[in-house]
Amino acid sequence: MGAEHLEALGLKGRDFLGLADYTPDELRKLIDLGIELKRKNKANEVFHPLAGKTLGMIFEKSSTRTRVSFEVGMYQLGGHALFLSRNDLQIGRGEIISDTAGVLSRYLDGIMIRTFGHDILLELAEHASIPVINALTDHSHPCQALADYMTVLEHKGKLEGLKIAYIGDGNNMAHSLMIGGAKLGLHVAVASPEGYTPAEGVQADTRAIAAQTGGSLLVTGDAREAIEGADIVYTDVWASMGFEEEQKIREKAFAAYQVNEELARYAKPDYVFLHCLPAHRGEEVTAGVIDSKHSIIFDEAENRLHAQKAILAALL
Ligand code: CP
Ligand code: NVA
Repeated sequence: MGAEHLEALGLKGRDFLGLADYTPDELRKLIDLGIELKRKNKANEVFHPLAGKTLGMIFEKSSTRTRVSFEVGMYQLGGHALFLSRNDLQIGRGEIISDTAGVLSRYLDGIMIRTFGHDILLELAEHASIPVINALTDHSHPCQALADYMTVLEHKGKLEGLKIAYIGDGNNMAHSLMIGGAKLGLHVAVASPEGYTPAEGVQADTRAIAAQTGGSLLVTGDAREAIEGADIVYTDVWASMGFEEEQKIREKAFAAYQVNEELARYAKPDYVFLHCLPAHRGEEVTAGVIDSKHSIIFDEAENRLHAQKAILAALL
């Protein structure tokens, strides 16, 4: 595989703002490229399609996986990554997003941003002339979902027709898993307490996509109904970044939504457990589940690296 192969994907110059913007075929090609880049890495094959290229990484929230995997990913592809925290940038002192986008486009070959409002991401993308990658907003986390489905494919050998149960907050992670799951032909079941269900718009989009791909969406208040017969069990923190002050209220609201051994009994006997991490054992998941033989969280975390290298190699 060389530069021609990457060009042939036809994704050069595109943004990666959400999985809804990509066709099922494009998503599958990115996953397959991630698997190939992982193989190259394990075989110590040098592959430097991004030599001389620089990715700017804007972080307005904390990160372990995203920061390290993007930076290492650029290095493995022969490029360079620049960590830019809010306080290092003039954005922190009020420089407007459109000027920041215009200026950064003159230095960089791509921008990765983790921020709060999804509108900030969209504004940056509108004014940047280089690819912009969503590395988590309050609305979605598409890089994580792409890596998650790559991990499921590696473990299950297929994606279409599998059932994924997402138990917990109808947050950014739920949204990207729903859209991505529908695109890839999975049956997605989400169980959330009242007041914490996924956004109506994302539910409608997921249903419309699923109608095209043979997937489906169930949104319920009943965790047992959602997990029944699931091939994949997924959960995320009850209080995401930016919602920490709601921790106590949320602990009450989500008490019946803990993924524990009792609930997991209703999944398929060979279910896999995923969590984007960071996790809180004893809250959204018990140690008995997240540290069990069903858990593939470290393969999942590793695949952030390879899935994002696929995005970078294809877009930059
Ligand atoms: N899963 C994830 O995005 O982790 P970080 O917040 O550590 O980047
Ligand atoms: N929903 C979590 C995901 C962290 C990777 C958050 O936004 O904090």
